[in-house]
Amino acid sequence: MRVLVTGAGGQVGSRLTTHLRRAGVEVVACTRAELDLADPGAPGRVVAETRPEVIVNCAAITDVDRCEREPDLARAVNAEGPRRLAEAARSVGAHLVQVSTDYVFSGEQRRPYREDDPTGPLSVYGATKLEGERAAAGAGSWAVGRTSWVFGRPGHDFVAWVLGLPTDRVTGVVDDQTSAPTFAGDLARALAELGLGRHQGVFHLAGAGACTRYGFARDILAAARRDAAHLRPITTAELPRPAPRPVFSVLGDHRLATVGIAPLRHYRDALDEYLTEGGAADG
Ligand SMILES: NC(=O)c1ccc[n+]([C@@H]2O[C@H](COP(=O)([O-])OP(=O)(O)OC[C@H]3O[C@@H](n4cnc5c(N)ncnc54)[C@H](OP(=O)(O)O)[C@@H]3O)[C@@H](O)[C@H]2O)c1
Repeated sequence: MRVLVTGAGGQVGSRLTTHLRRAGVEVVACTRAELDLADPGAPGRVVAETRPEVIVNCAAITDVDRCEREPDLARAVNAEGPRRLAEAARSVGAHLVQVSTDYVFSGEQRRPYREDDPTGPLSVYGATKLEGERAAAGAGSWAVGRTSWVFGRPGHDFVAWVLGLPTDRVTGVVDDQTSAPTFAGDLARALAELGLGRHQGVFHLAGAGACTRYGFARDILAAARRDAAHLRPITTAELPRPAPRPVFSVLGDHRLATVGIAPLRHYRDALDEYLTEGGAADG
């Protein structure tokens, strides 16, 4: 079995590459330098050369505010990229797994979103990722794995940001956006199963539990046995950003069990393991 992983230098793509290789799967791991989704010819060329049986698209412009400022780039990478990957997948009979986001939802619900709930993105990021989801269907054999608030890139994620905050002054952290932190290593396991099993359709793949950004920051400090007195809960309105975010985007994984894939564990359990492995500290 040969799996092509795009965005292989990112937090999900790198964990997925490691997970698959440990499982004995042949991986063609492409960073942006090797497969640039903004280059219209690249997906077809790389897929024709490497002839994978499964493609997992972990590449995206993930900076939500940058997408708002650079919508053409966001559309090229997050929507057109998956469309071209889907065409390429179809041409070699590969199964395409497209990684997507809770930001395809508007956030008006107060119960976890089901896979078939209506979408309603608020931002350019969410809208272009939704276009990417729809484009994935062009592969013929496809799955979409939506996730939320990913952590797991040592030195460069929310966990590292929280642990690096100065303790001699107060930092405000948003306390009115609720979702579920998801450990990239756990997500990689579920994405691998979706891909290797050629499962079809939309799946929610998020850590169990739910919290606000402020709540997660407190959890991180508690797990690291540190004091949280320097954190202050603030509202989204107190921290104006270019892109609007949904206030509630918890993903319910109603479909995973139907295909025999175990749900992701609680984000706090994953956080403990991540901190134990020393991941958040370096970099
Ligand atoms: N991070 C989150 O909280 C979150 C939440 C929900 C869903 N997701 C989804 O999860 C997936 C993986 O995200 P992540 O957390 O691993 O983000 P990440 O660490 O930012 O990784 C994304 C990767 O995509 C690459 N990339 C950017 N532009 C590209 C292009 N034109 N062609 C090819 N590759 C390109 C980046 O490479 P460079 O660094 O070289 O630019 C980076 O390695 C994405 O689909 C994202 O939308 C993420």
